[in-house]
Amino acid sequence: MDPITNPFAPGAGTPPPELAGRDELRETVRVALQRVRGGRPTKSVLMVGLRGVGKTVLLDRMREEAEAADIQTLRVEAPEDRSLPAILAPQLRQSLLKLSRNEQAKELAQRALRALAGFAKSLKVKYEDIEVGFDFDPEPGLADNGDLEHDLQALLESAGLATQKAGTALAMFVDELQYVGEEELAALITALHRTAQRRLPVVLVGAGLPQLRGRTGRAKSYAERLFDFPEIGPLSPQAAKLAIAKPAKEQGVEVTPAALDRIVRETRGYPYFVQEWGKHSWDTADDSPITEEDVERASTTAIAALDESFFRVRFDRLTPAEKRYLRAMAELGPGPHRSGDIAEELGRGVTSLGPTRNQLIAKGMIWSPHHGDTAFTVPLFDEFMHRIMPGDDWRA
Ligand SMILES: Nc1ncnc2c1ncn2[C@@H]1O[C@H](COP(=O)(O)OP(=O)(O)O)[C@@H](O)[C@H]1O
Ligand SMILES: [Mg+2]
Repeated sequence: MDPITNPFAPGAGTPPPELAGRDELRETVRVALQRVRGGRPTKSVLMVGLRGVGKTVLLDRMREEAEAADIQTLRVEAPEDRSLPAILAPQLRQSLLKLSRNEQAKELAQRALRALAGFAKSLKVKYEDIEVGFDFDPEPGLADNGDLEHDLQALLESAGLATQKAGTALAMFVDELQYVGEEELAALITALHRTAQRRLPVVLVGAGLPQLRGRTGRAKSYAERLFDFPEIGPLSPQAAKLAIAKPAKEQGVEVTPAALDRIVRETRGYPYFVQEWGKHSWDTADDSPITEEDVERASTTAIAALDESFFRVRFDRLTPAEKRYLRAMAELGPGPHRSGDIAEELGRGVTSLGPTRNQLIAKGMIWSPHHGDTAFTVPLFDEFMHRIMPGDDWRA
């Protein structure tokens, strides 16, 4: 069918034509934001899930919904190579400038901008990558200790006071939170703890890989009480079918029940794969309805497309030793696997593989669901490893 009208949207962070199966979570966050605005005790929300389950697009949607409800939002993505203060400061500045245009909140927002100036100036020594414009001079003693934990706390507190005065809430949407360093994560948690204690309307809506939960607990033991960790998983068969059938129907195209079942089977409900199969099934079909045969034929091109993009970008960032480690895991199946079994597959000792395993965790390729267990963070990555490193050469 006409590729021009193809509604499906595979791609990291690309909004799907139908955001299926996430209504409950959207409602949870909507309620949380309204509660925090009303000064009621509320937990921040950290959504955890594998690659490609739709964390980023969900975060973006939640942010749009928050903005529509007049909540002040900011959005950042934690990169692997920059500090949290550096990515947060410019966004916070935007929010505070906006708040300073509110008559009620003007004074407190300006004070928060002073806090931001002190914060950036004093932390620049340690976090050289901080670059933010100054609108006001720092106020001596306000968020300028040079200690992240203390200063972030003071900064979010003054931002919270301004937000409160404006009658709104400040919702910070942070993606890829697993990349935030432990010390910075600890500081963020402490700051949120403080604003929560003072019932200030500041809340974090974050997303990250499953290791985020453990990292948060290690950074601050009381984090469990401060956050909810909803798991974002594959779509239910019903939701996956809706994600395909509804956008197709909007273009006047039907999809047979057998075709939908087949897509659910092939994709196991993982949103990224659902989009990829939807796209290729559409392109393969001659006309409506899309049939199971179309889906079957589309599977080859869908897998090839995934291999070239979704899987490939991750694979290309690996060292040869890391590739071998993942290949050995794949040899054992989808996982999770015991570290000892992986080591045995490689003919090595567990301890000597520790550094490789740690690097893979830091790169967000694997995580540890339980002590001594190792699992892929990318769904169906084991099958990809078999395709990209076939045979037994990797053992050499
Ligand atoms: N609820 C959903 N229904 C249908 N498609 C979705 C849904 N969530 C995500 N997708 C699609 O899945 C892909 C991956 O989404 P993304 O948010 O980048 O995942 P993550 O951030 O978890 O890696 C995108 O192509 C997106 O359009
Ligand atoms: Mg993402």
